[in-house]
Formats: sequence, C-alpha cells, structure tokens
Amino acid sequence: MKKTLLVAAIALLGFGTVSQADDIQAKYQATCFACHGTGAAGAPMTGNKAQWAPRMELGMDAMVASVKNGKGAMPPKGLCNDCTDDQFKALVEFMIK
Ligand code: HEC
Repeated sequence: MKKTLLVAAIALLGFGTVSQADDIQAKYQATCFACHGTGAAGAPMTGNKAQWAPRMELGMDAMVASVKNGKGAMPPKGLCNDCTDDQFKALVEFMIK
C-alpha cells in the first residue's frame, strides 16, 4: 500500500514539473497549430522559412501585436485567450524555426 502511494507521489511530482518548452508546445498544439500547422486560411506554416521571411522583417514586437489584435483571417490572440506576451513571443519563435 505504502509503495503504491509512493509511486503515485512520484508520478504527481513528474507532472508538476512540466518545463516551459513543453507548455509552449501544448499551447501551440491546442491553438496556433489548427492554422499554422496546416496552412489553413492562408496562414504561414510552422517551420516554413520562406513564408515567414517577409513577416519577420516586421520584427518580433509587430508580430506579437498582430497575434494579439488579430490579422486577416487570424482571430485576436490566435485563439489562445490565456497566453501572455512572453508566451506569444515563444510561440512565434517556435513557429519560425
Ligand atoms: C484561425 C486560424 C489561425 C490561428 C488559430 C492562428 N493563426 Fe496566426 N495567422 C493566421 C493567418 C491566416 C495569418 C496571415 C494573416 C495575414 O497576413 O492576413 C496569420 C499570421 C500570423 C503571424 C504573422 C503576423 C504578421 O504580422 O504578419 C503570426 C506571428 C501568427 N500568425 C502567430 C500566431 C500564433 C502565435 C498563434 C497561436 C497563439 C496563431 N497565430 C494562431 C491564422 C491563424
């Protein structure tokens, strides 16, 4: 019985230490991926440097602002309503790689 509890405690600890990178990936999958993973609605695709190049010229701050305000077919906040500015920045960095 004690052993079972210990195993459960260790499992819980493991889940509690989700790194920031995992968190960003999870947010990406739940939101941005719907469009940026598929190119839906003309969204620049994740990892496609040619499609991102002209947008990168705007600079990171302008791109983060576009996400927050929405742009073209992209809804405001890119559907991630609980994302912070730092998380939007990390998400954009993740997609342009
Ligand atoms: C419903 C589809 C959709 C979702 C969800 C979405 N995007 Fe977009 N995104 C687009 C489209 C379409 C464009 C191109 C907009 C244009 O230039 O007209 C775009 C453009 C962008 C750009 C470039 C902005 C610029 O100024 O050129 C960034 C950065 C971006 N998305 C980030 C994100 C992030 C981060 C998320 C997740 C939090 C996200 N998007 C979710 C559809 C989406």
